[in-house]
Amino acid sequence: MNTQIYELDDKNIDMDIIKAAAEIIRRNGTVVFPTETVYGLGANALSKDAARSIYEAKGRPSDNPLIVHVSSIDMLLYVIGESLSDKARLLINKFWPGPLTLIFKKSKNIPVEVTSGLDTVAVRMPDNEIALELIKQSGLPIAAPSANISGKPSPTKAEHVINDLNGRVDAILCGSSSRVGVESTILDLSVEVPVILRPGGITFEDLNAVLGEVKIDKGLVSKETVPKAPGMKYTHYAPEADMTIVKGGLNAVADKIMSLAEQYKGQGKKVGILATDETKDRYQADLVISMGSRENMYTAAAGIFDALREFDKQEIDIILAEALSEENIGMAVMNRLKKAAGFNIIEV
Ligand code: TXA
Ligand code: MG
Repeated sequence: MNTQIYELDDKNIDMDIIKAAAEIIRRNGTVVFPTETVYGLGANALSKDAARSIYEAKGRPSDNPLIVHVSSIDMLLYVIGESLSDKARLLINKFWPGPLTLIFKKSKNIPVEVTSGLDTVAVRMPDNEIALELIKQSGLPIAAPSANISGKPSPTKAEHVINDLNGRVDAILCGSSSRVGVESTILDLSVEVPVILRPGGITFEDLNAVLGEVKIDKGLVSKETVPKAPGMKYTHYAPEADMTIVKGGLNAVADKIMSLAEQYKGQGKKVGILATDETKDRYQADLVISMGSRENMYTAAAGIFDALREFDKQEIDIILAEALSEENIGMAVMNRLKKAAGFNIIEV
């Protein structure tokens, strides 16, 4: 497949490019577009053929449903098979457009290929002008998973998308790096107390402040319970390297990582360390990447997937990562780190 690659300036969007991309969506083709969370691999959410081509391009298991992206409340109401609850209204007013995906009953307009046979549909309104214009101009809700090859870290830069999907989609819209850097928070509103199925850009604390009560899906915390969001059961974000997270007091963590690094180097392994600004100068390894300061974990979120890809690019064998606080956005970052490490955590 010949992929058309377009460069876009998000401050000054070239509407001719958006119109060309919207035409591809209307013809049931595939278009990758930037969002504030990660890049999405989009296609017409009303067409089962379009949905199938998304699964094919990503190599995605067909039991993992897609998120539908909308640009207006009218479009949301066309996609869902229920009226908006008070809670949904509150959340939409406060957080849309933004990194919050809500689960609703689906309407008949959405084919089961989009929802993997579920009678619910995941919907969000992205906070990115290129994404919103693409949806508006095509006049269609757009189903879009993250635009990576299934199993790889989600793409937060146009170059990640080109590496993974050039030749596998009709078009790629290249914008700037994703602002949030981890995928949207998924919230299930179909139960008495709303449940976070995937932590993301809108935090537990953000949601709790609006709703008063929120739970976290048990499947996110323990390896033994099956997560309710089908996609969360896959070992996502997995770098090629073996990864270990070290958790504890900062000095003890740094000491442990240094001794493990020496041990692996002695075995002839290439060692990478995922550090923070507070510790990065203490380490010597083949590649040390800082996730940013522990004072601002939003920086860690924005850079985490790029860091995981960089370790692979430099053919690192072993990644040793510092655990972060799970407060606020830290919960989403740690969730991605734990999955990348296959829940391999050492406590010191
Ligand atoms: O930030 C994001 O959400 C990005 C951008 C592109 O918008 N998209 C994204 O899509 O992360 P994807 O396909 O990589 O992840 C979708 C997640 C999966 O874990 C899937 O199982 C879950 O959403 N999901 C989709 N529909 C669902 C439903 N009806 N019930 C429960 N989970 C659902
Ligand atoms: Mg994904």
